Amino acid sequence: MGIFTRDIKKMDDLFVHMLRDIYYAEKQIIQALPKMIEQSHDAQLKQGFQSHLRETENHVTRLEQVFRLHGQEPKGIDCPVIDGIIEEAEDIVGEVDNKAVMDAALIAAAQAVEHYEITRYGSLIAWAKQLGRNDCAALLQQNLDEEKGADKKLTAIAESKVNRMAA
Ligand SMILES: [Fe+2]
Ligand SMILES: [Fe+2]
Repeated sequence: MGIFTRDIKKMDDLFVHMLRDIYYAEKQIIQALPKMIEQSHDAQLKQGFQSHLRETENHVTRLEQVFRLHGQEPKGIDCPVIDGIIEEAEDIVGEVDNKAVMDAALIAAAQAVEHYEITRYGSLIAWAKQLGRNDCAALLQQNLDEEKGADKKLTAIAESKVNRMAA
């Protein structure tokens, strides 16, 4: 699917296109999280990243189920947005020289990732329902709920201690 091919004609095509986008993104997140676990200092933050890594592995599995339910082979396409968010996070983290500030920077980067996932799953769920794929919508909803849970947990860690320690 390229800029000049115009092969997204129906909502169904758009749904599959965005499934491929988030599938690629989830896989990139699996690559990025171990580095974030390594770089984090706060024990609760580290544990939060570890549990979200396990959840993220399940997100990939659920997406594979959604592809198959929809009669498609699981396949990713480049998602410049997630690549950009991860690249920017690596740049910032590379410049921080303080444990608490590092944790604050990691939380901000992780929340950018969660919010990206939340917006993608929101659209995918709405489109799945419109396409009569409540089976797909239910699986996508499980991913969305875990992204929202991760985002809330990050806010709580930041506001309860990390931001204060970093200031
Ligand atoms: Fe995810
Ligand atoms: Fe996530």
